[in-house]
Amino acid sequence: MRRFISFIACAFVLMSFTPKGKSDVELRVNSMLKKMTLEEKVGQMAQITLDVIAAGGDRYSSAEPLQVDKAKLRHAVVKYHVGSVLNTTNNRARDIATWNRTIGDIQEVATKETRLKIPIIYGIDAIHGATYSLGATMFPQQIGLAATWNPALARKMGEIAAYETRACSIPWNFSPVLDLGADPRFSRQFEGFGEDPYLGSVLGVQLVKGYEGDSRNIAGSHQVASCIKHFLGYAVPISGKDRTPAYIPDNVLREYHLPAFKAAIDAGATTIMINSGIINGVPVHANPLIITNLLKKELGFKGLVVTDWGDIENLYRRDRVAGSVKEAVKMAVNAGIDMSMIAYQYEEFCDALVELVKSGEVKQSRVDDAVRKILRLKLELGLFEKPVSDSHSYPLYGSEEFGKVAYASALESITLLKNSNGILPLTKGAKILVAGPNANSMRSLNGGWSYSWQGEKTDEYTERFNTFYEAISRSNGDENTRFVPGVSYDKDIKYYKSHKDKFDEVLAAARWSDVVVLCLGENSYTEKPGDLQDMHIDDLQVELATEVAKSGKPVILVLNEGRPRVISRIESLTNGVIQTYLPSNYGGDALAAIIFGDENPSGKLPYTYPSAPNSLVPYYHKPSEEQKKMVGAYDYEGDYNPQYEFGFGLSYTTFSYSNMKVTKVTMGANEEFTVSVDVTNTGKRAGKEVVQLYSSDLVASITPDVKRLRRFEKIELKPNETKTVVFSLSTRDLAFVDMHNRWIVEPGQFELRVGNLSQLVIVK
Ligand code: BGC
Repeated sequence: MRRFISFIACAFVLMSFTPKGKSDVELRVNSMLKKMTLEEKVGQMAQITLDVIAAGGDRYSSAEPLQVDKAKLRHAVVKYHVGSVLNTTNNRARDIATWNRTIGDIQEVATKETRLKIPIIYGIDAIHGATYSLGATMFPQQIGLAATWNPALARKMGEIAAYETRACSIPWNFSPVLDLGADPRFSRQFEGFGEDPYLGSVLGVQLVKGYEGDSRNIAGSHQVASCIKHFLGYAVPISGKDRTPAYIPDNVLREYHLPAFKAAIDAGATTIMINSGIINGVPVHANPLIITNLLKKELGFKGLVVTDWGDIENLYRRDRVAGSVKEAVKMAVNAGIDMSMIAYQYEEFCDALVELVKSGEVKQSRVDDAVRKILRLKLELGLFEKPVSDSHSYPLYGSEEFGKVAYASALESITLLKNSNGILPLTKGAKILVAGPNANSMRSLNGGWSYSWQGEKTDEYTERFNTFYEAISRSNGDENTRFVPGVSYDKDIKYYKSHKDKFDEVLAAARWSDVVVLCLGENSYTEKPGDLQDMHIDDLQVELATEVAKSGKPVILVLNEGRPRVISRIESLTNGVIQTYLPSNYGGDALAAIIFGDENPSGKLPYTYPSAPNSLVPYYHKPSEEQKKMVGAYDYEGDYNPQYEFGFGLSYTTFSYSNMKVTKVTMGANEEFTVSVDVTNTGKRAGKEVVQLYSSDLVASITPDVKRLRRFEKIELKPNETKTVVFSLSTRDLAFVDMHNRWIVEPGQFELRVGNLSQLVIVK
């Protein structure tokens, strides 16, 4: 890591090629704006996908190998003044040299053949490492990063992803996802930090800082601009399916969905992407109350606002709130959009917006405001001075050093959920059957947004990494380890002509083994293709688990999934359960290290693991979800009863909590206080523990959540070691959003809880 730090130091020296300061940037923006024609300004607001200007094919696909088509490029960038490009072609990852050559060709035309020589800004979804860059370091998906509860790892992932993205001449990353993952059905839950607003805020800020540097040093050759997304309330549509309507009351939007965005904006996040969905009947791209009033005016966001893919067109073609594309453009730009991720039909967008400004339906000042932000961003990124990176200036690209950080992240994410009679760790040399559709797949380890949008090409590029089976076999010896997949995924049953035959094979192998490591979960997906009809884990996998259990051998269930698929039909058949989320390329090695006890697990669930498809409330539900607990009430069936609780995760050691102290017991509505607690490692091996502080408002004018996470800290303890953890907070941290949409702290009693300890405080 030291070498990496010295590279970061070098970046400061290299900054000499970048604009001199804020006022210099503003002067240059103003002088450029004065020279620009309306058409040039509108073009800056247009973003197209790379296929549109690549050689061969049509707008939607291109020839291989990737080449820019100069005529198409000139039509877009010189004639239409298009200011931004995104994505890859043919949905394929590219090596660093191809990226630099391709973006070099585009910048050559933009900076030499256009009147004002404005470079384009290239954007990509490097959401768990540089997704579309071959040989780059892939980290666990954000949901796994959340399970580490380790802000330092989020920071490091951001730094490394920024370094490797910038190495490819791409200075803009559509990440992090700060959507509240409160609905486990949603296909993009894995892209976010889970269900808790506070955990998401803490980790989101660190990821943004990793991308942008501490003081928003985005001109640095190792930094990129972040793009926090998808503002606001994207991940909770009523149907659980992508881009379908959500109904979210304002107080809920503010209390749960907004905090992570607000924290990232306060930390300096440079750009933001709008929610592609519909809230309370209004597509967010057409909602000035959210984009202009809330985001720009109330939160004071000064950066660039970009649409999601094709979402202006969607106002007309999908949502029918506009009668034409032109009307859609008018609605979105007037609502506060600065750049349109048009993707394909850029002439349509540009022509429409020029006409709208000429007719006065969109004010010139609105366009100037948008273009000012785009030019400012390009200047701040240093693109005028250095539009293309040199491949050889990035010696750490895909290095072992970076790989170690990705491995550490995978390791700290893995969450031990069940360990009956201490079956884990296993002894090396035991006869192990590794079974299940996720046992030998790099694709399922990585999930969506890996080498391609849906992640289906992953196995082509990941030969040098170990699947679960390969990593277990390496540690345990090939002769002691067998692999039988047994079944594939339900959607793809044709994988085996007669999957029944494989059940026989699995059962025979299970009988041979001392223990079965059963790797179940999901194949890769994202967005709409990942929509789900049934929360239960696939039927074939349930059958497989049932069959394997007939052997009478202990079963360790290893989960590898983007969202918590219900496992209650098979959980009782298992002796151990390990959640790996989507740990990416080092997930196999990390799992093996944990299974054999070379490492001690320390991940904690960043969401509630549901036990039934109709019981999907998060941990911060209302008391009426727990009526069973009420004195004198009926013993209701179907009470809140998740498979595993938010924040839960076992270790191979044990921890005890004692000596909880709160500095003040009675406080005013705006007072600082601290909570301290001693944590002791009472087991026999070193381990990491996530100390979590929760509060419960006992009585409130809006029925209070049963509890809320307020602070956490991950600490490491040797056997018998005790550490005192001190949390500083204020009574403002106990506030909620009332029915008038204001944050308030109501007087009354609050219970504070750490581990099994609790204390009451009174706010006057
Ligand atoms: C996704 C965004 C992504 C964009 C560009 C959209 O479909 O919703 O999250 O940034 O595509 O790839």
